[in-house]
Amino acid sequence: MSEPAADRAIRKLNWLEPVADFIQNVVGGIYERLGAPGRLLKDLLHGTKPLGHPLHPALTDVPLGAWTAAVVADYAAYVSHAIPPSAGGLALAVGTLAALAAALAGYTDHHETFGHERRVATAHGLIMTTVILVMVLSQVLRLEGGGGARAAAVGLATVGLLLGLLGAYLGGHLTYAMGTMVNRNAFAEAPEDFVPVGTPKDFPDGVLKRVKAGAMAVLMVRTEGRLNAIAAVCSHAGGPLDEGDLQGDIVVCPWHGSRFCVRDGRVKGGPATFPLPSFLVRERAGKVEVKIDQPPH
Ligand code: FES
Repeated sequence: MSEPAADRAIRKLNWLEPVADFIQNVVGGIYERLGAPGRLLKDLLHGTKPLGHPLHPALTDVPLGAWTAAVVADYAAYVSHAIPPSAGGLALAVGTLAALAAALAGYTDHHETFGHERRVATAHGLIMTTVILVMVLSQVLRLEGGGGARAAAVGLATVGLLLGLLGAYLGGHLTYAMGTMVNRNAFAEAPEDFVPVGTPKDFPDGVLKRVKAGAMAVLMVRTEGRLNAIAAVCSHAGGPLDEGDLQGDIVVCPWHGSRFCVRDGRVKGGPATFPLPSFLVRERAGKVEVKIDQPPH
């Protein structure tokens, strides 16, 4: 298979594996040690709560925009007195602060990556971390004052921005080419009319069962006599929810522990951010039938 040059290059960088292990161990260890507040913080940084959408990509626009404005202002200040030399430094500071927040969200998302995706995420994270350090150095030089220090600061910011564009390319590659943090049910074709999926005795109380409704995998589970149906594929990274753990009305994904309400598919705990499609269920004439509640398209 022919694959993009970035993937071919990253596949050769075997040293990324121990680095990724180290980062995941540190991030996981910190959240584990924090206990319940750590789980809440992790949900906030994934975007599970209160956003209901991945947080990291929403934050990354700010540093790239602010850093671009900083570099443009830096060069403009050399040729026009209308732009004060401090303008670039101000935009740079805004970008760097936003980048720190984006890094927290990004390394939180990185914690649940694996395989080649994890390598690309690690390369992306290392590049963006280097960019932050370069921008901080540029900021420090600006505080020094003097023509030489300012020229070095502008040069560093320029290099940082170019490196940031490379990092942003890898971030986009993770999402658009590899589907990291993309809703795994976004393209599901669910039946909009009732289709049979079994008989009532196929679904005893408290047993997670996977059935096919049209082309879509559906998780069926009866709780307190009520038969519930939601997508069987975890919206985070595609984990098989029928192999998960049922805790009351909550199913826990076996891969990274996302929690979903089996009654309506709502996310109760990350890393998933998107709810699962839910189905209407009817039992009649000895048959169980389901149809999608809200068609996704
Ligand atoms: S696949 Fe990651 S939590 Fe389900």
